[in-house]
Amino acid sequence: MNKNNFNFKGRTAIVTGGGQGFGLDVAKRFLEGGAKVIIWDINQNLLDEAVKELNSENLTSQKVDISNYKEVEETVNGITLNNNIDILINNAGITGPTGPLWEYDVEMWKKIVDINLVGTFNCCRTIVPNMIKNNYGRIVNVASVAGKDGNANASAYSSGKAGAIGLTKSLGKELADKNIAVNAVTPAGAKTRILEQMSKEHVQRMLSKVPRGRFLEIYEFTSLVCWLASEENSFSTAAVFDISGGRSTY
Ligand SMILES: NC(=O)c1ccc[n+]([C@@H]2O[C@H](COP(=O)([O-])OP(=O)(O)OC[C@H]3O[C@@H](n4cnc5c(N)ncnc54)[C@H](O)[C@@H]3O)[C@@H](O)[C@H]2O)c1
Repeated sequence: MNKNNFNFKGRTAIVTGGGQGFGLDVAKRFLEGGAKVIIWDINQNLLDEAVKELNSENLTSQKVDISNYKEVEETVNGITLNNNIDILINNAGITGPTGPLWEYDVEMWKKIVDINLVGTFNCCRTIVPNMIKNNYGRIVNVASVAGKDGNANASAYSSGKAGAIGLTKSLGKELADKNIAVNAVTPAGAKTRILEQMSKEHVQRMLSKVPRGRFLEIYEFTSLVCWLASEENSFSTAAVFDISGGRSTY
C-alpha cells in the first residue's frame, strides 16, 4: 500500500485513546508528518508500550481519564503553559458489553455515555479556548456507524456516538467563523481490541451489514482522519464523514 504523506510540521496534536488501535496508528502517521504528538490513555501499560513502539522524541504520553473533567482540565492547563494545541482527535471510547436495553446494567450504561460523549465534551471544553486564542484548530471526533444507524444490543454505545455527532454539528457551527474545523467520522468495524468487548455474534452481525464485505483496515481510517486534521481541510466543518464500507449511505 502506497500511503499518502500529510504535512503536520509545526503542529501539536492530542490523540485520546492513543495507547492502542486507531489512536496509536493516528499518532504514528502524525509523527511521520512532523507533528508533536501527545497521546492520552487511561491505561498506563498501553501508553508505555506505545511510547516504546513509536520511539520518537516528538511523542509524549499522559495518563488521563477523559471522563474526569478536572483531570482533563489540569492536564490541558499544564500543556498550554508552553504549547498551543492545534489538533485534537477525540478517539478514546468503549463499547461496553452487548445486551438489550431493558436488562442493561445501569451504571455501565452511564459509564459508556460518559466516556464516548461527555469525555468528548470535556476535551473540547478545555482545549477549544486555546484554539480560539490562536485562531487555528482541527478537531476530529471519532463516532461510529452505530451512532447513525443504532445497533441493536448496543444502546449506550449508539447513544453516546449519536451524541458525539450532535456535539460535532453544534460546535462546528459555533466555531465556523474561525480557522477551526470540527468534524466527526463514523467507522464500521475494524479489527482492534475493542471488538473483544462485544459478543462474537454481535461482531458478525455488524460485519454482515457492510456491503464491502470486510472489516475496515486501520490505515484506511487513519488516512481519513489525517486529511480532516490537516491544514488543507480549511472548509469542511460540522460534518460527518462516513467510513463504513457502504453501510450508511447518508
Ligand atoms: N474498531 C472498531 O470497530 C470501531 C468502529 C467504530 C468506531 N470505533 C471507535 O474508534 C475509537 C477507537 O477505538 P479502537 O477500535 O481503537 O479501540 P481500542 O479499545 O483498541 O482503543 C481505545 C483506547 O481508548 C482508551 N480509553 C478507554 N476509556 C478511556 C478513558 N476514559 N480515558 C482515556 N482513554 C480511554 C483505551 O484504554 C484504549 O487504549 C473508539 O471511540 C471507538 O468507539 C471503533
